[in-house]
Amino acid sequence: MADVFSRESLQEYAADRRAEFEQTLEKIVEIPSVSVEPDRKTEVRRAADYAVGMLESFGAKATLYSTPGHPIVHGRFDRGEDLPTVTVYNHLDVQPAEGDDWKTPPFDFVKQGDRYFARGTTDDKGPAITALFGARYAWENGVPANIHFLWEFEEEIGSPNFETTIRQQAKSFATDSVVVSDTVWVSRSRPAQPAGLRGLQGFRFELQTGQTDQHSGTAGGAARNPVTEMCQLISECVDGKTGRVKIPGFYADVVAPTRRELDDLRKSGFTVAGFKKDHLYKRLRVEDSLEVMKRIWMMPTFEVHGIAGGYQGPGVKTVIPPKATAIVSCRLVPDMNPKKIVKLVTAFVRSKNPDVKVSAEHALPSYQGKTTGPYADAIRGAIKFAFGREPVFVREGGSIGAVLSMEKVLRTPVLFLGLSLPEHGYHAPNENYDWAQAAGGMAAFADYFRRVAAMP
Ligand code: BES
Ligand code: MN
Ligand code: MN
Repeated sequence: MADVFSRESLQEYAADRRAEFEQTLEKIVEIPSVSVEPDRKTEVRRAADYAVGMLESFGAKATLYSTPGHPIVHGRFDRGEDLPTVTVYNHLDVQPAEGDDWKTPPFDFVKQGDRYFARGTTDDKGPAITALFGARYAWENGVPANIHFLWEFEEEIGSPNFETTIRQQAKSFATDSVVVSDTVWVSRSRPAQPAGLRGLQGFRFELQTGQTDQHSGTAGGAARNPVTEMCQLISECVDGKTGRVKIPGFYADVVAPTRRELDDLRKSGFTVAGFKKDHLYKRLRVEDSLEVMKRIWMMPTFEVHGIAGGYQGPGVKTVIPPKATAIVSCRLVPDMNPKKIVKLVTAFVRSKNPDVKVSAEHALPSYQGKTTGPYADAIRGAIKFAFGREPVFVREGGSIGAVLSMEKVLRTPVLFLGLSLPEHGYHAPNENYDWAQAAGGMAAFADYFRRVAAMP
């Protein structure tokens, strides 16, 4: 018999369990656990209850922890108190999925060949289930380690209750290391080992200049227009064409990439053509590949996610609206401080338009990860083992609030073993995951657990 931890054995395991994997993924993605929508609170809870049952059916012990918001689920495959514990972090809440750009209903699991479509397939339910299959294999085949799962249901809203909850439950959640599977490769042939995440500071800008719609023929010219003022304010904050943030001091704390980091970027296999194809863009602000990589991974941004106010229907309705809103966020990089950015933006907006109300939303500092040491080596080894290729070092442009909290509260190293690909469409319509990433991912996780268990 082949060695149980050989590549062949793991390939066979994945192939044998494919139908089971697909059914498991189907069940969980068909629960619309959209954390940001208050109306879906019971659905999020249903997903958490379902996750508990799923862990139990795999042979783990599972507990649901309530928080003032959505719950946290903890599962454990325990083997012995004296053995090392490795915890896998994923989130099982998802982004909203409204809009007509979906080719199939977002909460129906649709399989097309090796691809699985539905909201949450790649962010982050597919990778979570993949890790679970890898863990069960390691556990059933006697890997001398305890394997725990920490599943969050508030990641997509900035993890507001995560840190407090893991602090309160620090004993139950105690672990020797954490591996997070919630990041993206450079491309299918270029696995990535992220050396950091950007942070995020969210804002809402609100401006009210009237009580109700008024006829623009009777009041227009004299009345203030909140939509126009909002547009002016936004363009005072950021250059729309280049993306350059115009708020004085915004870039003051940005740490320039080292020569080593720039070298890693050049070696990463990133191409502008691939990036455009994966994200469905014909043109970008810049076309030089190093410049694009710096912008998506290493530079801060000021982004308008939505701007609302006034008439949106067919034809033209000649009113002056009373109110305008803009939803904004800044991605942050080392060493920017979210609180300082809140102060800076708030004061700047006040100086330009004192009637605009600014409220700060989720605040996440950036994160610098580890790319050296035994755990990072184990990640590299496991990816090479499962996918035949060493990962490249890049940073991730996105944010995961739980990462900093786990490092701080659990006081353990936090590593990344992501499985998503750019073309899977994080947060986009027609989000998908695929069998190659799942099958390889099961092998990568099983192998990672084996490596961690073998550490001196
Ligand atoms: N999985 C992503 C984080 C991510 C994005 C990693 C891109 C690597 C590349 C995560 O689910 C996410 O979307 N986070 C949000 C957090 C926010 C809503 C507080 C984000 O980055 O916008
Ligand atoms: Mn995610
Ligand atoms: Mn996400």
